[in-house]
Amino acid sequence: MAARNGKALLAGVIGDPVTHSLSPAIHEYWLKRYGINGAYVPLHLTPANFAHGVKLLTECGFVGFNVTLPHKQVAHALSETLDAAATRCGAVNTLSVQGRGALHGMNTDVFGFRKLVESLSGVSLARVLVLGAGGAARGVVCALSDMGCTSLRLANRTAAKAEALLDELRAHQVALPDAKAVPLDQAAVLAAEADCIISTLSVNGEVEPLLREVVRASQPHAWVIDISYGAKGTKLTQMAEQHRRQCCDGLTMLIWQAVPGFEQWFGVTPEVDDALIAMLRGAVV
Ligand code: ATR
Repeated sequence: MAARNGKALLAGVIGDPVTHSLSPAIHEYWLKRYGINGAYVPLHLTPANFAHGVKLLTECGFVGFNVTLPHKQVAHALSETLDAAATRCGAVNTLSVQGRGALHGMNTDVFGFRKLVESLSGVSLARVLVLGAGGAARGVVCALSDMGCTSLRLANRTAAKAEALLDELRAHQVALPDAKAVPLDQAAVLAAEADCIISTLSVNGEVEPLLREVVRASQPHAWVIDISYGAKGTKLTQMAEQHRRQCCDGLTMLIWQAVPGFEQWFGVTPEVDDALIAMLRGAVV
């Protein structure tokens, strides 16, 4: 392994909070595996400090960042150039510092979610219920559109936000043939008609009774996917298991969304191997 020295390429994940993030473990695993002179660190920036903090970090020589909750839309606004997925989604989860400190914004959640779905067998995306309409939902809905979802219900506590999100995606030519925004409290009724239920909610405990109703109402063949993750899955995937539904958490998505950033900043396309997945399962709290 190359020794880390003053020429190390620097990258990190920016969030508020950020202490829970597994991104440092993923990137440090790959840096070590490929013997790259680089470092990847957690960076806590509040919304008030985000733009200024990113500017200072780029001046300090950082080559790129992952961006997590709640900064994905501000990162989009700060980007001088955008990749196609970020343009369509209106959210950026990966920033790459170009010449003169200009930021190139990418959305790799779309790619990550697609890889997650491709890793599962027998998922039908004909009728999909998505819970939540925040930054993470944007990438998921774009990926669902790409993967041929024909009927989408986007359930959110603030239904108007879900409506605005669908309007914005349509304005960016995201094909959403039969998509409707609905209040989150209707989720259990809609779950009964879904082939796949996907949670992008940033909370689990606070909405536990609702999630329980959703799982209970779901069809036996339905898949339940939570893009959050945990050592033993999430509250939602545990409930789904109890009801013998096929289910999956978002660890695979997290790993795959990290691949394009690593490639861009460190110049190597990293492999997603079983040892990495096992190491992360052990590291999740
Ligand atoms: P992310 O970028 O991870 O998507 P976010 O943009 O903060 O995070 O979105 C969080 C999602 O969880 C939103 O859909 C939010 O609902 P609102 O749009 O109504 O805020 C949802 N959420 C957060 N706390 C919630 C709660 N206590 N009950 C129901 N939904 C909640």
